[in-house]
Amino acid sequence: MTRVLLFGRNGQVGGEIMRQFGQRTGANAVSRAGVPPLPQPAYELTALDRAGCDLSDPDAVHAAIVRAKPQVIVNAAAWTAVDRAEAEPDACHRINAGAPAAMAAAARDRGALLVHYSTDYVFDGSARRPYREDDPVAPLGAYGRSKLEGEQAITATGCAAVILRTSWIYGLSGHNFLRTMLRLAEEREEIGVVDDQWGSPTWSRSLAEATLQVLDHHAHDPSTWPQVAGLYHATAAGSTSWLGFASAIFRHAAVRAPRLRAIGTADYPLPAPRPAWSVLDCTRIESRLGIVLQRWDDALARCLAKAPAC
Ligand SMILES: NC(=O)c1ccc[n+]([C@@H]2O[C@H](COP(=O)([O-])OP(=O)(O)OC[C@H]3O[C@@H](n4cnc5c(N)ncnc54)[C@H](OP(=O)(O)O)[C@@H]3O)[C@@H](O)[C@H]2O)c1
Repeated sequence: MTRVLLFGRNGQVGGEIMRQFGQRTGANAVSRAGVPPLPQPAYELTALDRAGCDLSDPDAVHAAIVRAKPQVIVNAAAWTAVDRAEAEPDACHRINAGAPAAMAAAARDRGALLVHYSTDYVFDGSARRPYREDDPVAPLGAYGRSKLEGEQAITATGCAAVILRTSWIYGLSGHNFLRTMLRLAEEREEIGVVDDQWGSPTWSRSLAEATLQVLDHHAHDPSTWPQVAGLYHATAAGSTSWLGFASAIFRHAAVRAPRLRAIGTADYPLPAPRPAWSVLDCTRIESRLGIVLQRWDDALARCLAKAPAC
């Protein structure tokens, strides 16, 4: 039985990770199917939300880890309010860099594996091909800087860590572009959508599935951690603009489609600058860990097929 401690259980990715663990260990999986679950590596999960551990307090992070005695720590919690980070950079830094640093130090001291998520916002978006893990970083705003400092703080501890940089996360819960589009479709005949920023929309479930693939293969065998540890790009395959993403949403969603109008980044000013090009090269995670996330438009169709009448 491998003890796992999850931070951020209510987030988009954290919620989907909860679901993945539920499928492996939950009583529901047994009773629904009427047969025991498939033989899977066994986990004992402790999952915390903000009330269970406030990440702005490194002592609380350390105490939570000491209490749970995990062999694996998964950090799906983060300050993700990109625009608010510009006004509150210190608070953002505490969650996105200070807390991961405390987790990594505790992981190193306990000999635990840390799985952490980072972002395309570590890049400035000036590239013209998908970014590789070792391309130069140059975050444009406070959120990106804090996430980069989180990566660096983790690496500096020397703990065994898998850092997954992802992008454009969406799902059927939480704050995300998909849900915003579905809401706006109810309110407006026409929506202006940015068409000069490119990325790979990534379903939170796809990333959670990838995370559990890492754990299923490696969590139970620390001798594999030195080969597995590292920085990986982990997004859906393929890429599009926000306008392309919106068009695909309305192709698949069972809602009245509004008219979509292409606008430029300059037409939609926000406090935090966004990279114009966020596409990440995911070759490394495929070649080293055998993980490939589904194409963004196929995953979107799968996600929307699960939506209640939206
Ligand atoms: N969203 C994206 O498009 C995107 C893109 C690239 C990378 N990422 C990265 O992917 C990871 C998962 O993102 P996500 O979209 O799943 O995030 P999310 O939905 O915003 O969830 C973040 C979670 O962190 C928790 N949290 C925030 N501050 C906290 C604090 N002080 N103490 C304890 N918990 C706190 C939040 O709790 P509450 O529910 O209580 O607020 C929330 O449950 C993050 O590392 C993020 O940086 C996300």
